[in-house]
Amino acid sequence: MSYYKHHIFFCLNQRENGDACCAQQGAQAAFDHCKQQVKAAGLAGPGGVRVNKAGCLDRCAGGPVAVVYPEETWYTFVDASDIDEIVERHLKGGEKVERLMLAPSVGR
Ligand code: FES
Repeated sequence: MSYYKHHIFFCLNQRENGDACCAQQGAQAAFDHCKQQVKAAGLAGPGGVRVNKAGCLDRCAGGPVAVVYPEETWYTFVDASDIDEIVERHLKGGEKVERLMLAPSVGR
């Protein structure tokens, strides 16, 4: 059994030169909201869910992005309601949220 049931990483990369990055697109707010919702749902911790910050995940063209392991499911999102859906359906229910999944071809 893995230490966490689901581990979600949010790219919070900030580029100082003005180039596009997840930090410009609400990544910090989404990360904070996810952490809060996971905690409120009682999912946080060993055997449950861990929400982590990450640097650039090299899929910037689809940003803002987050990835859930062990399923290796990549998401993009727009607002808090998208995060709520990922928490409720995937992190709680174990079901991938197809409509928010990043296309396999999206890269840097
Ligand atoms: S800046 Fe977020 S994936 Fe590269």
